[in-house]
Amino acid sequence: MSQTAKRNHIVVNINGETLCVRGDEAFQPLAQFLRNVLNKVGTKVVCAEGDCGACTVLASSLENSKWSSFRAINSCIAPVFLFDQAVLVTVEGVRTQEALSEVQEKMREFHGGQCGFCTPGMICSMSQLAEDCAKDQTEVTEKKARNYLTGNLCRCTGYEPILNAATHIELPKWVSLASRYLTETLKTEFQALDGDVEIQGENRILSIPTTLASALAIKAARPQVRIVAGATDLGVVVNKGKMILSEVLVLNKVAELRKLESSATQDFIGAQVTLSEVETFIRDVHPELKRLLHIFASPQIKNQATLLGNILNGSPIGDSIPALMALEAEIQFASTKGTRSVPLKRFYKGYKVFDKTDDEIAVGLAIPALTKPGNQQFWLHKFFKVSMRKDLDISAVTFAAVIKMDNNHIAEARLAMGGIGPCVIRLTELEQKLQGKTFELQTFEEAGVLAASLITPISDLRASQEYRRLVTANLFKKCFHELSVEMNPSGKSSDKSKAEAVCP
Ligand SMILES: Cc1cc2nc3c(=O)[nH]c(=O)nc-3n(C[C@H](O)[C@H](O)[C@H](O)COP(=O)(O)OP(=O)(O)OC[C@H]3O[C@@H](n4cnc5c(N)ncnc54)[C@H](O)[C@@H]3O)c2cc1C
Ligand code: FES
Ligand code: FES
Repeated sequence: MSQTAKRNHIVVNINGETLCVRGDEAFQPLAQFLRNVLNKVGTKVVCAEGDCGACTVLASSLENSKWSSFRAINSCIAPVFLFDQAVLVTVEGVRTQEALSEVQEKMREFHGGQCGFCTPGMICSMSQLAEDCAKDQTEVTEKKARNYLTGNLCRCTGYEPILNAATHIELPKWVSLASRYLTETLKTEFQALDGDVEIQGENRILSIPTTLASALAIKAARPQVRIVAGATDLGVVVNKGKMILSEVLVLNKVAELRKLESSATQDFIGAQVTLSEVETFIRDVHPELKRLLHIFASPQIKNQATLLGNILNGSPIGDSIPALMALEAEIQFASTKGTRSVPLKRFYKGYKVFDKTDDEIAVGLAIPALTKPGNQQFWLHKFFKVSMRKDLDISAVTFAAVIKMDNNHIAEARLAMGGIGPCVIRLTELEQKLQGKTFELQTFEEAGVLAASLITPISDLRASQEYRRLVTANLFKKCFHELSVEMNPSGKSSDKSKAEAVCP
């Protein structure tokens, strides 16, 4: 078999300048590279954990020969190697040579910064807001501004002047970053490059294949190689000094893993599809899942993180897992030996112990369509995340219920919970007990009491064992009240207040 030469460096365009990054420099966090190697010190680092947004920059890449829209990402946790053939814009590149951008002008006019440490990140997130609104020809509303700025913290100015700046952006004055940086010439330059990359650092090796076949061959030859998807879990672990990425396999150039498909029988989400893309994709089919993803992390994290990364990281409080388990999703794996499908409900064997072999790569996730209910039958969904804050917080307990109703009776119940043991679980014993029961408060109260006795939570920084048991019982009541409101909207106010009284 003939071996084609692999490129031994990353090629990335930053603020209009194309650079080659070689050796160990490709392994460092992007923010560190920008500041220490390129002296672009406008990008700040505060938390180095993806939490504060000070390090936000904008990224675009080629997808099916087209430039993607610029998206805000956290450069402190994203290694440089994720940006081969990508275009990055830092705060230095948001302004033109002649003048500040419209976003920067408005931040100046409305006194949006005091110490200025958060300001470059705010400017980059707001630039994505301006870019998207200008492209879609929609207004910049306060709601949108709040959503785009969820991942940017300011410790001294206060948010009112910043939101004022955002809502006063005059879109006709916004000069599109895409028109400035995402040129046809650059596309041709990038497309002329050899695809596969292999970089040897000092005691490290990095592979970026462009086909699934070569990714599988690498994984078969070096089963210990660490797959990196969006690096929003791994980047934090590395920054905390708990892991060195010495053998890395990056899959973001493998087109087969970027598939998003919907058919009458299932939705399929490829392993490299980001959470932001999933949020848009499932909007109409799974509104409850969309609602859950809305309060998952920040836009910067979701623009970089993958759904499969959340599943394969296997945290007992991974927010998407209970919902996907209750929807009976299945992970599709591939290796050089073949393919197989593993139901999510059987994937977790203990704390970070998975039904997965070292030579396997997750290709994607299939979410089966719910079977068509018969006469008088319908499906109900409820997914909850219990955390101290609504936005950008780690869950203490997660809960998912997918229920098939037959008139006023439960025909089928699928229940999954996280944060209550070493891994997310389906409550199968309880599911069977609920079958045929009347949909009423008493049923859910009893189910909650039984669930609290079946789980094995621990006490940690986020919640005590007692709290987790109590909240589990209460989540069943909350589930009943919220579903009752959905089935009978006229009873809204009284039921809703009850629901909020029992759970955060
Ligand atoms: C500030 C911040 C906020 C966060 N908020 C939330 C939140 O609200 N809820 C939540 O659940 N999580 C949250 N997370 C965690 C994280 O963002 C998610 O778990 C995310 O989905 C991980 O995806 P990733 O692509 O970045 O994974 P990575 O970090 O790249 O990888 C995670 C794991 O999956 C493995 N992996 C990835 N792809 C494959 C594949 N194709 N085949 C085999 N193995 C693979 C990797 O080897 C690694 O072990 C947050 C993280 C940060 C930093
Ligand atoms: S420095 Fe805080 S998110 Fe990157
Ligand atoms: S201006 Fe100081 S942190 Fe925002």
